[in-house]
Amino acid sequence: MNDSNKFSEEEKKILLDHDYDGIQEFDYPLPNWWTMTFVLTSLFGIPYMIYYLFLGGPTLRQESELELAKIKTVRTAYAVKMAKFDHQAYDKVIAEGAASKGKEVFIENCASCHKDGGEGDVGPNLTDAYWMHAKATPETIYEVVLNGREDKGMPVWGEDLTKDEILAVVFHVMSLTNTNVANGKEPQGKKVD
Ligand code: HEC
Repeated sequence: MNDSNKFSEEEKKILLDHDYDGIQEFDYPLPNWWTMTFVLTSLFGIPYMIYYLFLGGPTLRQESELELAKIKTVRTAYAVKMAKFDHQAYDKVIAEGAASKGKEVFIENCASCHKDGGEGDVGPNLTDAYWMHAKATPETIYEVVLNGREDKGMPVWGEDLTKDEILAVVFHVMSLTNTNVANGKEPQGKKVD
């Protein structure tokens, strides 16, 4: 049912043959933007395919491995930097009020095992003169807090606390030593004078 009279001569030239329930269609050219996009993406695709398929361009897995290697280098450098007790940073943290900051960090993170006053519970008494891992010096306490003793129930803090927080809490633990708080846990380890 091709009612061709309703179209002009121009329109008839581009009118397509088919007729679906009275619906007909002109054969318009594709819009330029569409053709250009098609051409550009095709052109882009050629070197892209050559690079990734034939010239050994990195796969997604290789790219993520590269990224991970970078992260690992940064983390290792950070760990090495953290591992060394930084006397200057310690002095700075003390000058900036480590006494109250350290106590705050201690109450929040350590008191659950060492009790508020450091008298010990799950973790050892930090107010006596007996030590198992540390030796009542900032350097040794720092090392234990940083690395933890996970097999013995002392968590690793190097990843959860910042360096300044650890230094502040070390200062706080130093201030607890030999305060011999009442009802403290029985001594563990060796006496350190
Ligand atoms: C989940 C419980 C737990 C938490 C939380 C915890 N500790 Fe401990 N800590 C322990 C245990 C258990 C030990 C003793 C490990 C052992 O028996 O060898 C210990 C040991 C230590 C020691 C070494 C004591 C010694 O005798 O050498 C220090 C110092 C210490 N903790 C400080 C801290 C600080 C500071 C925090 C908070 C940042 C903290 N701990 C949080 C359980 C804990």
